[in-house]
Amino acid sequence: MRDAVGRVQSVLLVGGSSEIGLSIVRRLPRTESAVVCLAGPDRPDMERAAEALRQDGVARVEVVDFDACAAGSQAEVVTTAFADEPDVVIVAAGFLGDQETAERDPVAAAKIIDINFRGLVPVLVGVGQRLRAQGHGTLVVMSTVAGERPRRANYTYGAAKAGLDAFTRGLAASLDGSGVRVIVVRPGFVRTRMTAHLKPAPFSTTPDKVADAVASAIDAHARVIWVPGILRWVMLILRHMPERIFRRLPG
Ligand SMILES: NC(=O)c1ccc[n+]([C@@H]2O[C@H](COP(=O)([O-])OP(=O)(O)OC[C@H]3O[C@@H](n4cnc5c(N)ncnc54)[C@H](OP(=O)(O)O)[C@@H]3O)[C@@H](O)[C@H]2O)c1
Repeated sequence: MRDAVGRVQSVLLVGGSSEIGLSIVRRLPRTESAVVCLAGPDRPDMERAAEALRQDGVARVEVVDFDACAAGSQAEVVTTAFADEPDVVIVAAGFLGDQETAERDPVAAAKIIDINFRGLVPVLVGVGQRLRAQGHGTLVVMSTVAGERPRRANYTYGAAKAGLDAFTRGLAASLDGSGVRVIVVRPGFVRTRMTAHLKPAPFSTTPDKVADAVASAIDAHARVIWVPGILRWVMLILRHMPERIFRRLPG
């Protein structure tokens, strides 16, 4: 439970080594005894992230195994990671993959869908149930503008994220009145290791800017946010653009 001045005591980050996720964790005001739980597939990555958080003054950091592609792991992570009642759960697991490979290789295409959507659904169901039972908490889910309209360059990723985004908004509606808040975050291009091999797109941003936007959204009780905010209006136009014009846009 948050303390009297809104500081978090317990945070769960699914996608425990995510650059954006870790920036959000750092940005949240926390108590001196706060505990952070990192859940992800790569132990060494998460141990490094855990050590960095300890250096930043987080009192207790725990690491649990979670692989969105492994059926057992998806349900288990909720049970294991909910030892402390989390005030904030951030779902930042994600995988861009390679669109050209996904067009040739069904296994590669399915992996993109599994990590970004299918494998996160059992986690969201479990998190939703646990937060509802607690009667409080904020769920932050990393979507993307790429889910708003499919593009040639990354439509498998975009399709998976569109599914995740829709599922999360439905879950949010089902949690109305429970004391639980849900925030869908739709960033554009964020400069992290996920996009390090790509040319930055217009309105590109940083993990810290995403974290600032999420912190403001928590304070403002927002439900869906775009980062940077101007993308809300850019996507409004792009969503309604005729397909033949949309397809001619660069990128
Ligand atoms: N960067 C962008 O431009 C951008 C834009 C919009 C939305 N997003 C979304 O924001 C979130 C965070 O992205 P990021 O930029 O911080 O990238 P990141 O640092 O690569 O984080 C992605 C996280 O997903 C984890 N992951 C990969 N495969 C997984 C699996 N099978 N099971 C569970 N977790 C797995 C990664 O773990 P390991 O690396 O340790 O395997 C990592 O912790 C993602 O959902 C991404 O789709 C990113």
